[in-house]
Amino acid sequence: MMSLKVSLSMFMTLFGLICIINETNGLDNGLGRTPPMGWNSWNRFNCTIDENLIKQTADALVDYGLRDIGYKYLNIDDCWMGERDEQGYIHASNITFPGGIKALADYTHSKGLLFGIYSDAGYRTCAGRIGSLGFEDVDAITYASWGIDYLKYDNCYNESIPERQRYEIMRDMLNATKRPIFYSICEWGVSQPFLWANEVGNSWRTTGDIHLGWESILDILQQQHKITQYAGPGGWNDPDMLQVGNGNLTIDEQKSHFSLWAALKAPLLLGFDIRYPPTDVLGIVNNTEIIAINQDPLGKSVNIAQSTKRMDVWTGELSDGYVALLFNKAETSITINLNFTAHLNVQGELSIRDLWEHEDKGAYNDSYSREVPKHGIVVLKLTGGTKIKEYPDFIDQYSDAALSEFVIKYGVFVLLLIVIVFQYYIRYFCK
Ligand code: GLA
Repeated sequence: MMSLKVSLSMFMTLFGLICIINETNGLDNGLGRTPPMGWNSWNRFNCTIDENLIKQTADALVDYGLRDIGYKYLNIDDCWMGERDEQGYIHASNITFPGGIKALADYTHSKGLLFGIYSDAGYRTCAGRIGSLGFEDVDAITYASWGIDYLKYDNCYNESIPERQRYEIMRDMLNATKRPIFYSICEWGVSQPFLWANEVGNSWRTTGDIHLGWESILDILQQQHKITQYAGPGGWNDPDMLQVGNGNLTIDEQKSHFSLWAALKAPLLLGFDIRYPPTDVLGIVNNTEIIAINQDPLGKSVNIAQSTKRMDVWTGELSDGYVALLFNKAETSITINLNFTAHLNVQGELSIRDLWEHEDKGAYNDSYSREVPKHGIVVLKLTGGTKIKEYPDFIDQYSDAALSEFVIKYGVFVLLLIVIVFQYYIRYFCK
């Protein structure tokens, strides 16, 4: 009888433990069914932020209609922190955020927006402020008590503790608060987050930081095509925040950047000073037809269907059709052809709509060609046709393109080197 009781209580304890483990195994906030949209302070302002800027930005998100087309998160990045108190609780800098973060979150909420914050899974943030390592429990409780809706969690000063381990601790602490907080993992792609972060966060950075320049956009883009299948409702690849509106990029380049990020199902986090938005920039980020691609409920990223040194064709499925991006990387305008079978995996007649010209282009069979300006893009939504097979096996031409680029650039030097080495060899060893 006794042993039955013991076994029963052991069973109950084990069952309880399994329940606890189960409860903490996985992110449990129901958020991010489509990629998050909003604004973040870093790309434009770095550490020069204060509560007035954030309040004015909240106002601008509403006044320029950005909130109403989906840009709901207002996120402060690094540099809001002051010190920890004796109990370990973190406080905002009393110089730049004297009203405290809760007041700012309340203000943001009163505007119909959501409020996001930043911390670091290390003992310091990347800008050298206080991090959360070892204080995950108090910080998560603090964020929840402030009414935080989004946490970007960075990876500096991490004591070489494996990423997954550190990011899971914060995940469990956020779960424990019971407040749904979008959890944005920012470990820069260093430990292949796409393989594990789906159970940990709502999005994961896939690369190092985006810089303000065309090369940076191309560099990040090139790192996305092998991991597009990992993005989906609840967990998104994050190729970093948008640089649209921050100067240095032409209008065509900004349209390309915005379209590609949208179609990759990246978080659409604006990073320019939206208090004073240039009209042409507003015209880009408020393209609701491109936003609809990003927010499509199917949540499938585009993938690369063809890539050469001069152009890319990216295609993907939508809940109500297909999307194709004809992207010109060349220094002159070029004509790019979309082949329905090879690029889209579809046969038959397709109706085509241009999402930048906001115009129906009619119905086409087999293929459709367009002239695309230098560094520009044509984004097409296609409906109709019949899918050929479930998963297209697109040829990965990125490696070929990279190799031919290398041969073109350095081939002559490599050849010369071989000839010189060969001559020396003959001279000294074949006497
Ligand atoms: C890292 C992140 C950036 C930004 C800065 C802040 O570099 O990747 O996105 O948050 O830290 O210091």
